[in-house]
Amino acid sequence: MSILDHPLTRGIDLDDPRNTLLRRRIIREKRFLKRLYDEWYALICSRLPASCEAVLEIGSGAGHLDEMLPQVITSEVFPLEGVDRVEDATALTFADESLDAIVMTDVLHHIPDVAQFLREASRTLRSGGRLVMIEPWRTPWSDWVYRNLHHEPFRPDADEWKLPPGGPLSMANGALPWMVFSRDRRLFEAQNPELAIASIEPLMPVAYLVSGGVSMRSLLPGSAYPFVRAAERRVLREKGAMFALIEVHRLPR
Ligand SMILES: C[S@@+](CC[C@H](N)C(=O)[O-])C[C@H]1O[C@@H](n2cnc3c(N)ncnc32)[C@H](O)[C@@H]1O
Repeated sequence: MSILDHPLTRGIDLDDPRNTLLRRRIIREKRFLKRLYDEWYALICSRLPASCEAVLEIGSGAGHLDEMLPQVITSEVFPLEGVDRVEDATALTFADESLDAIVMTDVLHHIPDVAQFLREASRTLRSGGRLVMIEPWRTPWSDWVYRNLHHEPFRPDADEWKLPPGGPLSMANGALPWMVFSRDRRLFEAQNPELAIASIEPLMPVAYLVSGGVSMRSLLPGSAYPFVRAAERRVLREKGAMFALIEVHRLPR
């Protein structure tokens, strides 16, 4: 525990749904972090297909995408106040080809069996549908940050796209998105011939770090957000990004 820990969630089990509700409050109250989430959501919305009615968000948790995208169906793996439905990413309850898009922020690296989720995404997305996510990304800088400054496991050398049994928030491998879409890209392509990686855009070397995220206090006020974003655009994103915006297309059947 450190003085930087956010006082609201200090001492509450990460996997307790009350923690997620408090995190929701934290995002609203920390203006810097709220602006960061709003930018993430705007980036995700910019990658949705032109005709997009049925959009499912997985692992909505403490987020507020529904404010920007009113038609989104929010979901969480456990029942949660303010979230539309319970959905496990590895066993979606949606019919084949019923979704225009599946979106998520910071969720893929918590899914216990990513290969199974990708099969579910392929099954439920219509031809031309999209899977769009913002996830931790591995660069020389983020490798150091995630190993030394972040509470979640970060194991880029893991053999499998699977997680050991554990809670939905406490169990994670922050390196999973990089493993699936970069390190093991050929395997992804072989296992998912109906999915095509359209783009991977590295993002934000420092903004999330100084925001303190959902578990720490903010280091800067919300008014500093545009200045931090302008400054970090000058940093080499490929070497310094902590996140990536990943866009995957469901190919015609
Ligand atoms: C780090 S939180 C991110 C929450 C939210 N999207 C945000 O950006 O604040 C990861 C989320 O993934 C969810 N999650 C974990 N395993 C899941 C699964 N199998 N299916 C769906 N969601 C899952 C967790 O419950 C948690 O809400």
